[in-house]
Amino acid sequence: MISPQTIQQITSRLDIIDVVGEFVKLKKRGANYLGLCPFHNEKTPSFTVSPSKEIYKCFGCGKSGNTITFLMEHEKYSYAEALRWLAHRYNVEIEETEVTDEVKQQQQVADSLYIINNFAQKFFTEQLFLSNEGQANAMSYLEERGFTEDIIRKFQLGYDPQEKNAFTTAALNNQFSGDLLLKTGLVVNRNDELMDNYRGRIIFPVHNNTGKILGFGARIIGKADKAPKYINTPENEIYSKSKILYGSYFARQSIDKQDECLLVEGYTDVISLHQAGIENAVASGGTSLTTDQLRIIKKYTNNLTIIYDGDEAGIKAALRGLDMALEESLNVKLVLIPGNEDPDSYVQKLGANGFREFVAGNKKDFILFQLEVMLKEAGDDVNKKNDTVNKIAETLSRISRAEDFTKQQEYIKQCASLLRIDETGFTTLVNKYKRDRVNQEEKRTAFEDAKNLQQNSENTVQNFDDTDLLLQQDELQERNLLRVLLEYGLNSWDEERTIAQYIFNEIEQFYFDNSELRYLYETYKTQYQQGFEPTAKTLLYHEDDRIRNMVVTATFFPFELSQRWDEVMENMNILNKDNSLQDVLMSLNYFKLHKIKKMFGENQRDIEQSKDIDEQMRLVKIHKELKEMEVKITQQLGTVILK
Ligand code: UTP
Ligand code: MN
Repeated sequence: MISPQTIQQITSRLDIIDVVGEFVKLKKRGANYLGLCPFHNEKTPSFTVSPSKEIYKCFGCGKSGNTITFLMEHEKYSYAEALRWLAHRYNVEIEETEVTDEVKQQQQVADSLYIINNFAQKFFTEQLFLSNEGQANAMSYLEERGFTEDIIRKFQLGYDPQEKNAFTTAALNNQFSGDLLLKTGLVVNRNDELMDNYRGRIIFPVHNNTGKILGFGARIIGKADKAPKYINTPENEIYSKSKILYGSYFARQSIDKQDECLLVEGYTDVISLHQAGIENAVASGGTSLTTDQLRIIKKYTNNLTIIYDGDEAGIKAALRGLDMALEESLNVKLVLIPGNEDPDSYVQKLGANGFREFVAGNKKDFILFQLEVMLKEAGDDVNKKNDTVNKIAETLSRISRAEDFTKQQEYIKQCASLLRIDETGFTTLVNKYKRDRVNQEEKRTAFEDAKNLQQNSENTVQNFDDTDLLLQQDELQERNLLRVLLEYGLNSWDEERTIAQYIFNEIEQFYFDNSELRYLYETYKTQYQQGFEPTAKTLLYHEDDRIRNMVVTATFFPFELSQRWDEVMENMNILNKDNSLQDVLMSLNYFKLHKIKKMFGENQRDIEQSKDIDEQMRLVKIHKELKEMEVKITQQLGTVILK
């Protein structure tokens, strides 16, 4: 891991305008810089970068973040990769911290697995190209299937001889440990004897996005009657099936350029398409798509075209991935290959151009396709038709991101018409499914949380009656308090205490309801107490993205609201002096007032429900105390106002 000192050095040197400016043409506008958003298509610039806050935000698509998240989004870097890029640019030498033994050991295993896989690939390729058996058994088969030497070399295909331990012996002679060899799945243990797992098979290496070999698929030569057609690498430190898209290393540039990803089922489908020059194709490995795989695709494009066999199994497999793809806001199209063909055989039959034309001419909208299939199946059966209506409503309810609203409306219209039902009623049904799911969904990500909150507050701004809104929403109070903590925490409150210490003390008995904000508060407090000096800027580069997101959320206080807040403060005549202390005091008081009001309500309920007289007395006492606190705070707010 990169040490906090290094991160600190990097963040103290970096200049967001300089970094973002490398990728986006920026013009100065007042205190900020403005440019065309690199994350969505636009003609008039709404991408804003604030050098003082070190954050960017696009008012068109809503994307926001700091220098590091910019590099992560724009260049598809990991957090560590982004830091390394910045370290290089600003001449900071990277110091790595000691990692835990467990992590270290895992990394060592992972490194060893890569080395073994690399060795294995070379061994298998050599067998394919240079051994008589490889030529006679495997190369002839591959040629028969129409694969060229170029493509075989590009995808680094190979062959494992029939002899029971050809690879095992070579690997052991090369000093690789038996345990690690077993982990790769290349070797198995039969009656205490290590031997090759992929004997007599053609080997397809599976690469990660940077070209390193994660594992292998091994295909039997010819028909698979008894043995399985393919054997795949078992899950291990580097091979995780649900996160792999076969061919992504060779396809990613083309996907980016074409702004479309073709998804097929198998190894040979990918290879044939690439051989034909259709290089934006990847494979899911014959199972239904996972969210992780969809996210890999989404890094490069929003347009996914699924090309599967037209048989029932192929259609079912494709439909399984649909709901998740919709939630990830991908535009999904479906192309079914006719007859007994698969993309591999079909592209070889039609040729590259023929295949391209076929795909372009046969793309079906996925949702409408699903509807078509279900309607056909339902026929005149009323119950089945009813099921179809519900299923489609459920599917449409998953198109739930704000930016997809028009798309959803359009679908509702089309589907209602195909189903021959009333559009308004159908809309209600879709919304019901959406509500149901929202209710079930406990875990929302911090980012969505923040976005919703922002939307809510923007919508209610018209009805904003003085400080009411500030009192209405718990989260706003919590956010506002964190804002002042991040902004002024290190300044002094009085001769003895900093503002942070004052705040810690004042809200000791209260609780942050929003778990993400609570986490940010606790992280701040811990860092502060350990002698670090946390600020919005240092926390903006925290390694945990939950913290980074929440800092952006807390400091990007909704614009209308912050303006409103300034107005409130202005009315109270406290702007234009050093207003930080008042800002803190007001934020604290509104926070407390809100919490107290809530406790009031809860206490009231307890009193009503309580049957025990002693208990009631106790609760009434609490009631009085809360009342006193409330009066005190209101008075204090009053003095501020009158000052
Ligand atoms: P297919 O049976 O369609 O094979 O399985 P294929 O890729 O077209 O291979 P060829 O053309 O017959 O040589 C599609 C994918 O499902 C996975 C593999 O990833 C395969 O590419 N699969 C299939 C397995 O993992 N194991 C199997 O036994 C079969
Ligand atoms: Mn095939």
